[in-house]
Amino acid sequence: MTYISNDVMNEIRNKTDIVDVISKYITLTKRGKNYFGVCPFHDDHSPSMSVSPEKQIYTCFSCGASGNVFTFVADFEKISFAQAVRLLGEKVGISVGGISNFSEKKDEYFEIYELANKFYQNSLFTNLGKNAIEYLKKRNIDKETIKKFGIGLSIQKVSLTDYLKNKKYDIDKLINIGITNDQGNDIFINRIMFPIYDLSGNPVAFSGRIYNTKDTSKYVNTKETDKFKKGKLLYNYHIAKEHLKKNDSIIIMEGQMDVIRASTVGINNCIATMGTALTKDHKNIIKNMTNNIVLCFDGDEAGEKATVNAIELLEDTNIDIKVVRLPNNMDPDEYILKEGKDSFFAQIKNAINLIDYKMELLKKNKDFGNIKDVSSYINSVLKELINEKDDITIELNLKKLSDNFNIDYKTIKNKYNNLVKNKKEIKREIKPKKTYDKYRMAENYLIYYMIRDEKVLNMVENKVGYFPTKNIRELSNEIIYYFHKYGIINIADFISYISDRAEILKAFQDIIAMDIKDEFQIQEIEDYIFVINDYHKEMRINNLNKKLKEEKDPLKQAEISMEIMKIRGGSRNGIRD
Ligand code: UTP
Ligand code: MN
Repeated sequence: MTYISNDVMNEIRNKTDIVDVISKYITLTKRGKNYFGVCPFHDDHSPSMSVSPEKQIYTCFSCGASGNVFTFVADFEKISFAQAVRLLGEKVGISVGGISNFSEKKDEYFEIYELANKFYQNSLFTNLGKNAIEYLKKRNIDKETIKKFGIGLSIQKVSLTDYLKNKKYDIDKLINIGITNDQGNDIFINRIMFPIYDLSGNPVAFSGRIYNTKDTSKYVNTKETDKFKKGKLLYNYHIAKEHLKKNDSIIIMEGQMDVIRASTVGINNCIATMGTALTKDHKNIIKNMTNNIVLCFDGDEAGEKATVNAIELLEDTNIDIKVVRLPNNMDPDEYILKEGKDSFFAQIKNAINLIDYKMELLKKNKDFGNIKDVSSYINSVLKELINEKDDITIELNLKKLSDNFNIDYKTIKNKYNNLVKNKKEIKREIKPKKTYDKYRMAENYLIYYMIRDEKVLNMVENKVGYFPTKNIRELSNEIIYYFHKYGIINIADFISYISDRAEILKAFQDIIAMDIKDEFQIQEIEDYIFVINDYHKEMRINNLNKKLKEEKDPLKQAEISMEIMKIRGGSRNGIRD
């Protein structure tokens, strides 16, 4: 690791606003003097993360994640603290350590995929690519779109493997990352090549489509590698994310051709699952992007199943879900080509609310001439309605049920009220809060207040003999040292200061995420200090008590009891049995 001085870290941090940076990753809403968002570091359902522009730190009250702008970027991007400093430094024009070894250390995997992608793109515009260009033209994909999505062509006669081998890349590496097969030949032959990028925009795989040959599979994708996992990335994510500022909603589609087509009519906030079902990882990615999504899967039966599955997965989040069901089994690509841009815009604009979509679904295979079907339908609708948050939506729907089926409104409303009453509290999945014993608790409180108030810091320095927990002891020493050096404790900068000491940093992060009041009485501080100083005494007494229990000899028992009494300070807490 290159050494980055505290001054440089502090300068970068000072030129960077934590709210600006974090809102690039998650949606933040201002409430009071702080900002709140759904925590990206645990399976959060409501905005538990608060970001303080004043202190320039974030804290999650649910999972305890906390830190400064560098720890956020490091943990989110899964890079080291130093890399996060470097990354943010580049953004404010401060280069760390002379040469930025960020680009220097570029992964060979990405390098190979970038070269492969260029190679395929090049092939498309050679003589051997004429048929493929013709095919794309027929599908209304013009040159600009080809360039925009990096579409290329794999040709049997021109070997990518040979090309890369000549560039001195190891054949085992090429096999390993899904470019070459075990026989040493190209994996992709005679296919239109769509590069797939990871969440940061690095090329990590290909999806190749047949165009003038017959094959059992329409698309062939790169095998799963350590960098390409279909369930962990979404097609076009890195582009769609950039378009979110203007249009705070994401349209989720099935295929890359759907996303590409939408972009040709100026809709750039689309991502595709590439035919697989949405996963929990997808859910977390989406949750961190936006609060509004439109599910726009293919109009066929499979698309409906995908829609229902996606709803089931995403329903317990804060995301507002809308649904588009395209007619005549069309996918978005076909729909836009056939019905035109404006008609597709209208579909998106008039996307159905989740509850309305569910009610439509519930109607399926029901015979409303049949009393049993009617009653079962109404009950299912009511069961859905008890999960609805918007009172007006609930009211309108209750009324609709009453009107449509000619049932007294009161009857419907009563039934609804009963269901609400019986509805079990849905337990939210929150990581259990850490529990501390009274000593650890006192330690935490003292640290919490000593970084906020000089008085407490002085009291700790002068009155606390020795913190029982090693990390806390070291942390307290660092805080005191830092204070004497800088004359002030800036929490955000202090985090940078201890960033290379993982265990201390972790202990500190847990403490700043504690949900406790900022004001305190001096007496409370005295009490915590008393608890800490009492620790060693208590430990000795505990040990003696253990001994006492095991001791059979009454004489020795008396001796131990005497010793305990002595430690307790005479008869103050005299022993009784
Ligand atoms: P579709 O079969 O809906 O393809 O599969 P599409 O988007 O309409 O593609 P075109 O219009 O025929 O070219 C949706 C997605 O599922 C994945 C691909 O990512 C595709 O975009 N898929 C499909 C495969 O991985 N393999 C297949 O054989 C088919
Ligand atoms: Mn299609």
